[in-house]
This record gives sequence, structure tokens and C-alpha cells, in this order.
Amino acid sequence: MTRVQLLPAKERRKDEHQLILADKDKPDALAGALHSDEWAFFQPAAARGVMQFFFPRKEGSVAIRLLKSEKDPAIAAESARLQGNEALRDIRQYKLEVVHLLNFSEPNSALAFLEGMVLGSYKFSKYFSKKDKEETALRQIYVGPSVASAAEVSELDALLEAVFLARDLVNEPQSHLDTLVFADAIADAGARYGFSVDTLDKSALEDIKMGGLLAVNRASPIPPRFCILEWKPPQYKNPKPVVLIGKGVVYDTGGLSLKPSEGMDYMKCDMAGAASVVGALSAVAQNRLPLHVVGLVPITDNKIGANALAPGDVITMYDGKTVEVVNTDAEGRLILADAMHYAQRYKPSLVLDLATLTGAAVKALGSQAICYMGTAPEKVKKNLEHSGFATYERLIELPLWKEYGEELKSSIADLKNLGSNNAGMITAGKFLEHFAHYPWLHLDIAGPAYLRAANGYRPKEGSGVGVRLLYHFLKKMC
Ligand code: BES
Ligand code: ZN
Ligand code: ZN
Repeated sequence: MTRVQLLPAKERRKDEHQLILADKDKPDALAGALHSDEWAFFQPAAARGVMQFFFPRKEGSVAIRLLKSEKDPAIAAESARLQGNEALRDIRQYKLEVVHLLNFSEPNSALAFLEGMVLGSYKFSKYFSKKDKEETALRQIYVGPSVASAAEVSELDALLEAVFLARDLVNEPQSHLDTLVFADAIADAGARYGFSVDTLDKSALEDIKMGGLLAVNRASPIPPRFCILEWKPPQYKNPKPVVLIGKGVVYDTGGLSLKPSEGMDYMKCDMAGAASVVGALSAVAQNRLPLHVVGLVPITDNKIGANALAPGDVITMYDGKTVEVVNTDAEGRLILADAMHYAQRYKPSLVLDLATLTGAAVKALGSQAICYMGTAPEKVKKNLEHSGFATYERLIELPLWKEYGEELKSSIADLKNLGSNNAGMITAGKFLEHFAHYPWLHLDIAGPAYLRAANGYRPKEGSGVGVRLLYHFLKKMC
């Protein structure tokens, strides 16, 4: 993965290429920045509604992007991100390797523009035998104080590095990222960014009887792992930690309840929740947020084999409950439930789980929204939704009405792992609710985590959804 480097800039060298932002309604702000012939061209065109310009100069060119003003700051930020992504395409066309970003518009929009530029520059090209030249075209963006302070630039840079890490982890196929490689990658991230990582292996999981995770892993030649990530800086502000749980199914065949071929090809994405948790901890640790945050990541694949868990089997979960496994493709909830029971030992103030949990969430809301539900106070839900709009990783709340839970009654065990054909994302949530003995929110990210086609600055395949959302949400708690 190549990443555009963000560098704080005190002043601009004369021969550098400039990318200048201004408000569509205040184009006059640029009068001093342009040569007189450029200004003579720019002013009437801007008045006619032209939004972008490119002036070649002998020493470094000037590209201009005018930003529309929007009443809603979240909409303004998203529109700036999308424009940043488009500007990146232009810069690549002109084959500029280094640009200096200057801003004459509102600071929030400028930062979002920069974010969109970097997010749009992502490409997973590791497995091409010939490297694509285009991706190396833009290497560095110098960011002047008119855009952001040096501290803001480095915070954004760390956050985007964490988003790229999450995207990389999702895009890695299981041929190269099995449970063991994934657990090692998490330990590496911990070493690089400064959070601690403890990993439980299969015998440790057997000792503590983590039955859900072990059952899903039963047919696999590769053992499961359970990673415990922790960021606890000296002056943390929350007396009780926030726990983040991520579904880490490195590949989901469905098990004996085998998935149809159509749809199975992208099941390498079934650890996207785990990738988001790793990304969030990386960003929190790298930016040294004064919060105690724990990440729990149960890791396995869901395979078929002679020893596989079979539909109709009864298993005993880590918390002692018994579950009739009606469908082995509803495996995510089994491993999440065990992680949720593990979370109890931290006496957490809040637990958030992220999971590519149901096809129902994809059918209902597509790739634009996260389906979420849970027992946390209303105020916490509002804060999370606010962070959702601010980062444009938006959430819709669904009800956990008790009637939905009735579908999970089993005639031979405490619970079964499958509801009816309808509202599958809610019955999955109802299943998890049985294991939540603290304020809890469940985020079903199956829709936005993995895209069939690129969408603005969101690339095809792994989107890294959840990292920016969680970081924004956690930062507001500081
Ligand atoms: N990993 C899938 C959910 C999924 C679907 C993720 C589409 C990403 C895109 C999950 O384990 C699953 O198979 N869920 C089943 C549950 C069903 C058997 C109750 C589903 O949604 O079809
Ligand atoms: Zn499944
Ligand atoms: Zn799954």
C-alpha cells in the first residue's frame, strides 16, 4: 500500500504546485493569489458557476477548487471530502507528485477536503505483479496553516493510516490472512502504535471453555485466536473502560449450512468488524487519546469438514448458556456472544460490537448505513449518531422489541441461533442481547464494510467503515 504523505508546511516554495480552496460565494478571496491574466479569466468564470480551474505556470501550476457552502456542517464536510477525491483524480492526470494545499475557505471543509483526497488515494495493489504507476503519482501533500495546524495534520494522518490498515486487513484474502496471520498482524499493529495485545490460543480457549468460538472453528485445520487489545494511558479520563468487540471471521463458507457460490466470493470480508476495532485502537493509541479502551477480537474461519458443527447441534457457550445451532451460517453471533461475556470482567461503561453480521442488514439499507441497536442510554445513542453524520458513516437504529426475541426460543436448549426469515438483523441483535449485562450497542456493518464498486472516496472492497466513526465518538468522550 502506498500512502500519500501529509506534511505540515510553514511557507510555500515558489516552484511548488498549489492546490487552492476557496468558497464558491467568496471567490474574491483569491485576488491576491493569482496572476493578473489568471484573475481576468477566473473572476467571470467563477461568477458563471465554474467550480474548478487549472493554471499552468512556468514554476509550479495552480489548481483551484471552489467549495459550495452548505448549512449543515456534516453535509458540507462530506461534499468537501468528495471534492478532495475528485481533485486527486485531476492531480494524477497532471502527474503532479507534490502539491501544496492552501485554503481560503472554512477550516472544517478544508480538513475534510484533505481527508477525502487521502481516503481516495487508497489502492490495494499488493498482488499485482506489475505495479501501477498512477498510484505513485501523488506522493506528498504539504498542508499550510491556512488548512490546519501541524497537530491537526498529524492527528488526521494517524487516523487515515488506521483506516488504511483496516482496509488492507479486509482486502487480504484468507489465503494470505488466516486466523494466525491475522492475530500476528494485530500484535504488529499493537507494537507499532503503542497498545498492548494479548492473544489466547486454542488450548487457552479450551481451558476457559469458550464454547461458541471453539464450535465455529471445529472443522478448521487452523486454530482460533482471541486477541485482547488494550490502550490505557497514564491519565485516562474514564473510570470504567469502553470495550470494542469485532467479529473476526477470516472466511465464512457458511459451514455445513453452506452459502451459495454467489455471495461466497466476498466472505473474506467477514472480519471487517475486527479490522475496524484494530483500526480504532491504532488511531486512539497513535493519537494518545486519554481514554481506557479495550478491544476484543475473536478470530476463526467458518469451514466445512468431517468434524464440522452440524445444524441441530447443541453447544455450550462461554457464559454457560446452551444454544441449538439451527444454522451454522449464523456463526458471527456465536463468537461475538463469547467475546461479550469476556467483556464483563472489565466492568465496562459501554460495549460496542461491530460485525458483518447479516445479509438482512445489507438488503434493508444497502451500503450507506450501519444498522445499529442496543441497550445503551439514549444520550449515548444520540452521540454515536452524531459521530455517524460527522464522519458520514451513518447509522440507523432498529428496535429490540421483546416480540422479536420470541423467535429465538428453542425446544431443547436455552436459545437457538436463528430467527425467522424476516428482520434477520434484529433477531441477531436479540440473540446478542442475552449476553449484554452492561450498556451495549451492536453495529451491523455488513452493508457499508465491503463495496462491490467504488463510491467516491470509498474504494471497491474494504471500506474501513467504523474506524473514523469510533475515533470521532471516542474523542468526544475525552
Ligand atoms: N457473514 C454473514 C453475513 C454477511 C452477509 C456479511 C453479506 C456480509 C455480507 C453471516 O455470517 C451470515 O451468513 N448471516 C446469515 C444469517 C442467517 C443464516 C440467519 C445471513 O444473513 O444470511
Ligand atoms: Zn455466516
Ligand atoms: Zn459471517
